Amino acid sequence: MSGLLLLGVAPFVLAYALYRYHQFTGRYPKGPRPMPFIGNILEFDSKEIHKILDRVGKKQQGIYTLFLPMPFVQITDFAILKEAFVDNGDGFTGRMTSKILQEAISFAPNSGVIFSTGDNWKEQRRAAISILRDLGMGKNVMEELVITSMDEYVQYLRMIEDKANVDMRWPIQVMVSNIINEILFGYRYAYDDCKPLIEYVDAFNDMQKHMDNSTIMTLAITFPFLTKLPIIGWYTFGRIQREARKINQYIIDNVHRSLRDQVEGEEATCFVQAYHRKIGQVPYLDETNLFANCADFFLAGQETVTAILRWALLIFAKHQDAQEKLRQEVRAAVGADNVPTMADQAKMPYSRACVLELYRFANVLALNMIHVTTRDVEIRGLPIPEGTWVHGDIHYIMMNDPVFEKPDEFRPERYIALDGVTMRKELVDKTIPFSVGKRSCAGEGLARVELFIGLTATFQNYKFSPRFGEEIDLEPIPGPVLLPKPHNLCMEPI
Ligand code: HEM
Repeated sequence: MSGLLLLGVAPFVLAYALYRYHQFTGRYPKGPRPMPFIGNILEFDSKEIHKILDRVGKKQQGIYTLFLPMPFVQITDFAILKEAFVDNGDGFTGRMTSKILQEAISFAPNSGVIFSTGDNWKEQRRAAISILRDLGMGKNVMEELVITSMDEYVQYLRMIEDKANVDMRWPIQVMVSNIINEILFGYRYAYDDCKPLIEYVDAFNDMQKHMDNSTIMTLAITFPFLTKLPIIGWYTFGRIQREARKINQYIIDNVHRSLRDQVEGEEATCFVQAYHRKIGQVPYLDETNLFANCADFFLAGQETVTAILRWALLIFAKHQDAQEKLRQEVRAAVGADNVPTMADQAKMPYSRACVLELYRFANVLALNMIHVTTRDVEIRGLPIPEGTWVHGDIHYIMMNDPVFEKPDEFRPERYIALDGVTMRKELVDKTIPFSVGKRSCAGEGLARVELFIGLTATFQNYKFSPRFGEEIDLEPIPGPVLLPKPHNLCMEPI
């Protein structure tokens, strides 16, 4: 009898649950139709997230929601992104805080700049940027640091014996890492003595590999109990945590080293010493956040720039005409022996265009950092409730906005106006590798210097081409940072 009653009631319960689910999804901008209760998770089953978002985004109107199964708003239109992250910036400054991710990766919940939120984020970001400014970021001091690193790198390349078969990955990694290592910790590595750095990068790459399955990751974040189960726990977070410990140990060792090296009564010579002296004087600044900030700036400060410069070598090795044109402009502007500076940019429109096109074409972040709404917001008249995950899809915009004709082609000249010297504003404005708004990249100033000088100095001194009979494959390795496949190149000193 009670069984019959249950059977009779079940359809009504199901219908009510479906109605409530429909009501729930209706509170977000419309997107591809979600399946009851599991949303769009089945469509999202891929390692190549940016390709799925590209496919889905083309059928939507610039803002839509995916349910994975939690609501995840996607913004794929430049004007809508600005309306959200800039005009309504305060409403989008939250970061996705997953207890599980924080346990696996962070020094402590809500610490540092990249993954923190609320007042702690505001104070850490403000303090970090102010310290970096005091140390010379955005000024000549920082540029000199980049030039020194570039000089060492160019000298190191001269010493490579087998120039017909060069793997450029480590020279670039050491050159870029030395800049942020010196800023944060006050010292640099010799090219033949950088084991701790290699171990850090290897651990990071392993962590990336373990994070490349977006379905497992989103399921684990949504249902944290999965990470406590045997075997599943290891595949969702255990192995990520193992690599994160190695990465964090690098930071701990280096913070201690910098504090040991400081001389009482003398000015701070690096980020660690400067931050440490502010502890106790500025609210929210403490030792845990010092570690977390260093971890954030070290990671963000080298992975992206290294990845873009590695792409640059492959792209220009494939596009010899562009490489030759770039080299000729650099040499005409600064000669053969001087490292180009930011001031030289005025004489180098083609080089500037190459850097912009590289940002757009290499487009290394498959997924921008996820924001979270800090209050109920309305964008284009569409409601987004407080606490919603929001993805400002800069990858999509730089690959699909109509201002970029034939976006799949590498064409630096697209940025140059008819006068041959001015950059086309409508394209420059939409080239947004650093994102926009209050949470945009905190290292943009430094990154722009590194990329301009890194690109121009490399091709000023060397010609790179594919090895005899080889084709360059520009399909990236899937992952949160889109890295090039390993390639050895042929390098000729000029
Ligand atoms: C070309 C190289 C780089 C690219 C493409 C890049 C891109 C980005 C992007 C897209 C974000 C997330 C923005 C958002 O949430 O909307 C970000 C955040 C950040 N980046 Fe960069 N970045 C680069 C280099 C650097 C460098 C050199 C540093 C450090 C010196 C750095 C430090 C940071 C930090 C600390 C954040 C977190 C900001 C926050 O959450 O408030 N980045 N970056």
